[in-house]
Amino acid sequence: MGNKERWGSGLGFILASAGSAVGLGNLWGFAYRASQGGGGAFVLLYIFIVLVVCLPLLIAEMVVGRSTGNSPLIAPFTAGGKKWAPLGWLFLVVSVGILSYYVVLMGYAGTTLLHAIFGDLPLDKAAASKYFPSISSGSVSLRGQLLSLALTGGVVAAGIRAGIERLTKWGMPLLFLMLIGLAIWTSTQPNAQEGYAFLFGWDSSKLTDPKTISNAFKQAFFSVGTGIGAILAYSIYLERKSPIPGEAVAVVTLDTAVGLIAGCVTFPLVAILGLGDLVGEGSVGTLFSTLPHGLAMSSLGLAGWLVSVCFFGLVYIAAITSAISLLEVPVSSLIDQIGWKRPKAVWFSIALIALIGMPSALDVGFLVKVDSIMNALLITSGMILALLVGWSIPKIFINDLTTAGTPKARATSLLWTLRWITTPAIAIGLVVVIEETIRSWLT
Ligand code: PHE
Repeated sequence: MGNKERWGSGLGFILASAGSAVGLGNLWGFAYRASQGGGGAFVLLYIFIVLVVCLPLLIAEMVVGRSTGNSPLIAPFTAGGKKWAPLGWLFLVVSVGILSYYVVLMGYAGTTLLHAIFGDLPLDKAAASKYFPSISSGSVSLRGQLLSLALTGGVVAAGIRAGIERLTKWGMPLLFLMLIGLAIWTSTQPNAQEGYAFLFGWDSSKLTDPKTISNAFKQAFFSVGTGIGAILAYSIYLERKSPIPGEAVAVVTLDTAVGLIAGCVTFPLVAILGLGDLVGEGSVGTLFSTLPHGLAMSSLGLAGWLVSVCFFGLVYIAAITSAISLLEVPVSSLIDQIGWKRPKAVWFSIALIALIGMPSALDVGFLVKVDSIMNALLITSGMILALLVGWSIPKIFINDLTTAGTPKARATSLLWTLRWITTPAIAIGLVVVIEETIRSWLT
């Protein structure tokens, strides 16, 4: 790629990648999937998949970005030759597909943040039941989608250092601070235990329950955000010498910690506010409807206002730092493939994504369908990426890592894990996810 831009520092890359990983997946996705049951078994499976599947795959993805220096569209071709070119297209389709509804969800969060700031969240049950439908349809939803997309575009248009690195450098620490503050506050409230008990309650039969396994796979892939080219696009700007495995461990640890701590905020909040019956069968709106309502209703006064503003502010920051990494996939591909300038590539991409996302903005049911298809495709492209790196370009993988100072033995064992553990595990996960998705559509 003709672009010689580099990250300002190793920390800049880690924070940007953690910004990509930590997002609505950790807040909305975790609450939504964990509330479908599974308890501690879901949490355990999720952590296990993150460690043995997503971590090695993330390292592989970073290596492909740095060693080829090409955008996600072209990198698989440069690395492995013509027969891997379709993987580049898959990266593009999945990132554009996910971003198309991701900005719609971001719009819900932004609208709720504004309601929280102005203190006009729904007060009674009747208003609460109308709240989510009102923000997730019609012009309110479209406005949220377009504004969120424009903000995302503005950051990406400013470039790697001046846009992405600058935003994530203050955004991520602020997010951690707010999250830890909220977790401490919830732990001191009465009834918080009930929330923890729901989240971590143990039932070993759930370990083999296909729904729990499928949810854990989807959650792990979506949350780490590997296998789609987003982190690949960031890795193009990495120094040759930076220690990829350590950076990947830092990203995955931050991401998982935020997922778990966020769970330790949302589930106790639901219990504290007595919203258990409203959460129901883990609906998409859990995060956007029950919590704001509960906070507005509560007798917490100023603390309730502060908690709701912090919480939805945090959701919005987490979302935008992920959305920019998804947008970087088509943008860097247009720059790399057609030679467009960054701003032109950004505005073209967001116009296209706005159009594709309109049906999701107007209909939550459609959004949920696109989400489940994209999740299955994300795992599929992760699988192909593991095959590419593990079997087609093992030498590039080992060379890239050892040149940057990773001991040979560690690089070799990473390759072994990628070949013999990660790849078969993704294959199993993919079958379960596809089966579950089809079953959920039929019932
Ligand atoms: N990981 C992000 C989240 O949890 C979403 C994402 C998916 C980002 C794929 C980049 C790539 O919200």
